[in-house]
Amino acid sequence: MLSADPLPPLSPAGAAHSELVAGHLRSLIAAGGGWLPFSQFMDAALYSPGLGYYMAGQARFGAGGDFVTAPEISPLYARCLATQVAEIMKRAGGGDLVEYGAGSGALAAELLQALAAAGALPGRYRIVEISAPLRALQRERIARIPGLLARVEWLDGPPATSWQGVAIANEVLDAMPVDRFCASRGGCEAIGVVAAGNGFAWRSRPAGAALADSVVRINASLPDPLPDRYVSELRPMMPAWIRAATATLEQGALLLCDYGLPRSHYYHASRDGGSLCAFYRHRRVEDVFARVGMQDLTAWVDFTAVAEAADAAGLELAGFTTQAHFLVALGIDRELAAALDGVGTREGLELRQGAMTLLLPGEMGERFKVMALARGIGITLAGFSFRDLSTSL
Ligand SMILES: C[S@@+](CC[C@H](N)C(=O)[O-])C[C@H]1O[C@@H](n2cnc3c(N)ncnc32)[C@H](O)[C@@H]1O
Repeated sequence: MLSADPLPPLSPAGAAHSELVAGHLRSLIAAGGGWLPFSQFMDAALYSPGLGYYMAGQARFGAGGDFVTAPEISPLYARCLATQVAEIMKRAGGGDLVEYGAGSGALAAELLQALAAAGALPGRYRIVEISAPLRALQRERIARIPGLLARVEWLDGPPATSWQGVAIANEVLDAMPVDRFCASRGGCEAIGVVAAGNGFAWRSRPAGAALADSVVRINASLPDPLPDRYVSELRPMMPAWIRAATATLEQGALLLCDYGLPRSHYYHASRDGGSLCAFYRHRRVEDVFARVGMQDLTAWVDFTAVAEAADAAGLELAGFTTQAHFLVALGIDRELAAALDGVGTREGLELRQGAMTLLLPGEMGERFKVMALARGIGITLAGFSFRDLSTSL
């Protein structure tokens, strides 16, 4: 439920930091001749070293931050994921687990414990993390569990040499920069950013060839053409990221968990305006130019685009389903029953509530999807056995 209360103000230190980020963004706009594609604005606002939202060390995750992700909501999420990871590892003949953008380290810590309990620990747990403050947070979280830290290493980018096993990206795609466009009968406009007083404003200009071609391809693949003056987003970096993340993967799978839709729903007439928004203190914020560097920026994922990028990268689509169907197929009911055994009333209630949040359609159950992209392990995976929505892509 959305709150009508005013948003909590930034602290003086937060406001000062945001002003630094705004100054940096203004200098990028000036260097771009007074106009910046939104993807470059978003990239800088989130990932500029020392300045960006994910790069500057403030609390982002969990109750004291701006948003809560599935691994933070309930340990049952990682325990179910561990069952899927173990199946893929077995098919690949063992290997490593590579996690992209590991946030607070909650998923890593819980996955490692669940895999250890199942006798299915990966050779190495490799975290690809670009943020130094987040690396420190992850190390501290994993170190709380005896015996696991020695198995974990941090990488600056995808594994450079051949490997086998599983890669996971939980809520990583939605945090990748998007470009905004307006598709009209007369062509396509790029909606970028200009400086306006102390802040920023939207400004359209004719789209460059790459953006215009992408929108033409999207339009051609839809059951109904985009309405005139339709505004939405696309993620230009995503195909290169899928390729890079799996370039050295010999056998195994990439699991992608995020909020998103098949293309025909993503670019449906009713979704004119797109899904770009900000998050600050657990509230959805429409103004993506407010408190820059101090609020998260995100947009939903076009999973058809991801499947196309996977095909181009030589991967097989091994499944696409809702989070609820994925977790039910992996036995979340059994995991909940086991977790409830012997716990007190309060902890039991938290476990039940966590399971509901993961599963209910009005919470995370339907908005969030899971996609598996496989190489050399076959395409029948337990997590998609209950309901596979691949044909909707
Ligand atoms: C919304 S947070 C999710 C964090 C965590 N996976 C979770 O579920 O709690 C998005 C994360 O994606 C990371 N990220 C974004 N682009 C990335 C990239 N190209 N490579 C690795 N991590 C990336 C960010 O640094 C951030 O940690």
